[in-house]
Amino acid sequence: MPEINVTDRAGKTTAVAAKAGHSVMEIIRDAGFDELLALCGGCCSCATCHVIVAPDWSDRVGSPNADEADLLDSSDHRTATSRLSCQIDFTPAFDGLAVTIAPED
Ligand code: FES
Repeated sequence: MPEINVTDRAGKTTAVAAKAGHSVMEIIRDAGFDELLALCGGCCSCATCHVIVAPDWSDRVGSPNADEADLLDSSDHRTATSRLSCQIDFTPAFDGLAVTIAPED
C-alpha cells in the first residue's frame, strides 16, 4: 500500500497508508491526526487542513488553484509550498509524499 509521511506540530513524522481516490486531508484525518481540523469537510472553505508540502515534492503536487490560494492568503503561516490538503487528490504517483501540518492560525 502506498504511504505518505505526515509530520505533526510536535515534529513527529509518521508513515500513513494512503489510498488512491482519497484526498490527502482524508488520509491524514482518517489516520487520527486530530490537529488537522478540516472543519469544512473538504469544501475548500475553511483552511484548517493547511499543510506544507516538502520542497522536493512541491513540483509534483502542483500549485493551489485560485480559491485555494485565496484561503491560504488568510493564514499567517503560508509558505511557498503551502497547500490545502483537501485539494490534493492522492494518486499512487504520490507514494512517499511528505507533508507537515501547518501551525494553527
Ligand atoms: S477541509 Fe476545509 S479547506 Fe480543506
